[in-house]
Amino acid sequence: MTELVTLQLQPLARRLTVPRGAPLQEVLFPLGVEFPCGGRGRCRGCRVRVRAGELPVTAEDLRLLGPERVAEGWRLACQARALGDLVLGLAQWEAPILGDETPVAVTPRPGLGVAVDLGTTTVVAQLLDLTSGRVLAVRSALNAQARHGADIMSRIEFALADAGRARLTGLIREQVGGLLTELLAAAPGAGSLTEVVLVGNTVMHHLFCGLSVAPLAHHPFEPEDDGLKVFAGAELGWTFAAAAQVCFLPCLGGFVGSDILAGILATGLHRSERPAMLVDLGTNGEIVVGTRDRLLCASTAAGPAFEGARITQGMRAATGAIHAVRLLAGGAWAVSVLGGGEPRGICGSGLVDAVACGLEAGRIQPSGRLPGGDALKLAEPVALTQADIRELQLAKGAIAAGIELLLMRLGLRAEDLDRVWLAGAFGNYISRASARRIGLLPFPPEQVEPAGNTALRGAKLVLCGAAGPDRALPEVRARVEHVALKEDPRFQDAYVAAMGFPVR
Ligand code: FES
Repeated sequence: MTELVTLQLQPLARRLTVPRGAPLQEVLFPLGVEFPCGGRGRCRGCRVRVRAGELPVTAEDLRLLGPERVAEGWRLACQARALGDLVLGLAQWEAPILGDETPVAVTPRPGLGVAVDLGTTTVVAQLLDLTSGRVLAVRSALNAQARHGADIMSRIEFALADAGRARLTGLIREQVGGLLTELLAAAPGAGSLTEVVLVGNTVMHHLFCGLSVAPLAHHPFEPEDDGLKVFAGAELGWTFAAAAQVCFLPCLGGFVGSDILAGILATGLHRSERPAMLVDLGTNGEIVVGTRDRLLCASTAAGPAFEGARITQGMRAATGAIHAVRLLAGGAWAVSVLGGGEPRGICGSGLVDAVACGLEAGRIQPSGRLPGGDALKLAEPVALTQADIRELQLAKGAIAAGIELLLMRLGLRAEDLDRVWLAGAFGNYISRASARRIGLLPFPPEQVEPAGNTALRGAKLVLCGAAGPDRALPEVRARVEHVALKEDPRFQDAYVAAMGFPVR
């Protein structure tokens, strides 16, 4: 009888049973994993990371990946066989995760601290030496809750059913605890963990802190308790750091969380004499605008198009995604694919570029219509449909209308802004010219600055004492007014108007 072994594949939470000794190439290829050099051990494109179990090291592993990566568990799938039960991370399905290398000022004190950016999709954690502010190690992962829904609305839905909330709270506390353990293992002898600062959107805040998300599911979508939460590590089940103080920073209101509060601290928007803006583009777009005297913040439901969801061939910004499109002389397209191989789909930044090029080339009308109704072919086998363009119009219309209304409330015009910072991964990779061409961001590209992972940087500022929770946070929070855009009678008209594309 054939002996069987079990393979668990991350980040897709797939579990397979295969014959012992089966070549991984035969097992993984039908699931969409590509073998760019045909499995000849020449390209590294098929690498996987062993998270549990054993995969013997081959000469090709050492030659192509190097001893350091091999020691971290990386192997070439094309050279490996499933000899026992395994948990494997697939590099091709991993999205690039944005860290932060900016040095921050520190008020020195003994011990180690960890800053955590707890996103709906990804979690990034940095270990810092609190005597110097030096980053000792970084770990990131896809949010373990993602198997119960990709966006915050589906997480809320899951949390409201049966024991869903306890499950999501348990999963994320356990995952962050696991990342902390890995970080501490990466810096042996550096000291003991004394403090952890987390930031995240309102839903992540509530789920981590064990609060009910029910108030976020219906009008007026205001959290019951959005304040600073402080735990001892022991309360979270972190026996390895039982006495560490764990702070989840407070939200700003509605769906504007402490990731945006951290973004204000990181960009210095709360000290700006001239009007400036911070925009975080995502399923839920968040906007903060104003000066050091008065700041307005709002969130606007953009839908998942920027993350490649609900787009026919959409995907996250992972290997195989078209992430940039250029128009060549003569009207042809040039596409850039993450990882350099054949395209598998299109991610948010590619989508924005493709539509900007389509408008420039006259292949998409300002109303969003595709003349003739044919799909817009980008590069075999990837094309955009009429429904895809409508989906982008919904997303960009929500952001553009939010920007317009907040500016209107402050009596400002787009050109009055000194600076527009784009927070987060999508803001880092999107073409500013294309964002302007489709009417997503009505600012000249030179006014706009990708600001990187401002959530993580802000968390580090708080952790290092430059903006400690007891001093700066209440003062900054008091200066930020939350605006419920949906309650503004002008929002619907502004939204509908912003769905069209600018006419050249
Ligand atoms: S497919 Fe190229 S090294 Fe494995």
